Amino acid sequence: MKLLAIVGSPRLKGNTNYLVDQALAEAKTLGAETEKVVLSQYKVNPCLGHTECASYDSCRQKDDAGWILDRLCEADGVILGTPVYYYNVSAQMKAFIDRSYFLYQHGRKSQAKAVGVIVVAESLGIEDTLHTLKLFINEAFDVGEDRIFVVTGYAGGPGEVKNNLPLVAETRKLGRQMAETLKTEGVG
Ligand SMILES: Cc1cc2nc3c(=O)[nH]c(=O)nc-3n(C[C@H](O)[C@H](O)[C@H](O)COP(=O)(O)O)c2cc1C
Repeated sequence: MKLLAIVGSPRLKGNTNYLVDQALAEAKTLGAETEKVVLSQYKVNPCLGHTECASYDSCRQKDDAGWILDRLCEADGVILGTPVYYYNVSAQMKAFIDRSYFLYQHGRKSQAKAVGVIVVAESLGIEDTLHTLKLFINEAFDVGEDRIFVVTGYAGGPGEVKNNLPLVAETRKLGRQMAETLKTEGVG
């Protein structure tokens, strides 16, 4: 059972990373093999919009988006984690979402059978951020609403979320639910 997390926060000791780690740790106790890709640690350029993806076997841009998208397609479960930046996903996450246009142009979707969403804001913008992520999930995955697990919460300073124990517990539950869902789907 392979669980991949894609993280849009550039703060390695920030709130999103902390919560994503909690979800992955919980899933691991149920046998999941976990991997976390923090987008800011790689080169994922914005899409250049030439829209000729379908004519090429790989994106013309030679950066890290290609292999990360391949992992997204192969994973049994995927967690998308992002802070709210200006009422939406972070720029790192948006660039990654835009680059998934390559998959769309090739008629490819992720085979993941469960998707987790973790969003952290200081005060405003969670709804709009969730809207963007849900549209991405509809496009890049083939999962029903009952296979999408969402946790959102509020925190400002890096790591501040650690003190929000109910939110941490809710996030661990997300990891557990994803692993259990994958087990019931027959993913070993
Ligand atoms: C550029 C930028 C834009 C932000 N925009 C918002 C926003 O629109 N709404 C909000 O509630 N918080 C906003 N924040 C605050 C972050 O969402 C908040 O600090 C969050 O905890 C960061 O998560 P992280 O520690 O995982 O990076 C913004 C922060 C930055 C740096």
